[in-house]
Amino acid sequence: MAEPLAIYVHWPFCLSKCPYCDFNSHVAASIDQPRWAAAYARELAAYATETGKRLVSSIFFGGGTPSLMAPTTVGSVLDAIGGLWPVADDVEVTLEANPTSAEAARFAGFRAAGVNRLSLGVQALDDASLRWLGRGHSADEARAAVALAGRTFPRSSFDLIYARPGQTVVDWRRELDMALDFVRGHLSVYQLTIEPGRSS
Ligand SMILES: C[S@@+](CC[C@H](N)C(=O)[O-])C[C@H]1O[C@@H](n2cnc3c(N)ncnc32)[C@H](O)[C@@H]1O
Ligand code: SF4
Repeated sequence: MAEPLAIYVHWPFCLSKCPYCDFNSHVAASIDQPRWAAAYARELAAYATETGKRLVSSIFFGGGTPSLMAPTTVGSVLDAIGGLWPVADDVEVTLEANPTSAEAARFAGFRAAGVNRLSLGVQALDDASLRWLGRGHSADEARAAVALAGRTFPRSSFDLIYARPGQTVVDWRRELDMALDFVRGHLSVYQLTIEPGRSS
């Protein structure tokens, strides 16, 4: 039996561009989601001719900001995958989300579409740092989104960025302690990295 297959789906759109971010992410005035769904289906079909019938064990919607996808778009990508490969009963389906309240309102729709793990981009637990990072959410919104994700999905996690300018080891230890108080299973920490050409 061939190795199980893990599928990554990239959604390259964001509401605004965070100044530190070097990911393939863009701000667009309007996005034709049915057209994107059809393009994903064609791309997946092209890959299926190369992989053959391997069991899909993991699907990851990354970005950009996949929580800006309509749940129906997520569902149609999952249907396309299910039509091309056998999918494991215990497949992990993760979606990256930004913790604004508007996006939290879509969590139930993502769960209904088949997402069973949410990864939230919290980044910092105080509003001044979030403003410096150019984030569109407050620390309270982030905490509320983590709690809602815990109630909505079987698994969830969140990301923090450390080594921010002016942040001491004592500050980071305090922030990490706060994070460990409400983490649900998994926490990802990233050292701030500014690539050449980014403005911060
Ligand atoms: C694909 S990115 C962003 C996901 C989502 N759009 C968000 O911003 O929450 C995944 C994670 O990478 C980390 N990240 C992005 N840019 C970074 C940078 N320049 N330095 C360190 N970590 C970074 C953030 O923690 C982010 O949540
Ligand atoms: S929302 Fe996420 S992917 Fe988009 S610009 Fe900010 S860090 Fe990058």
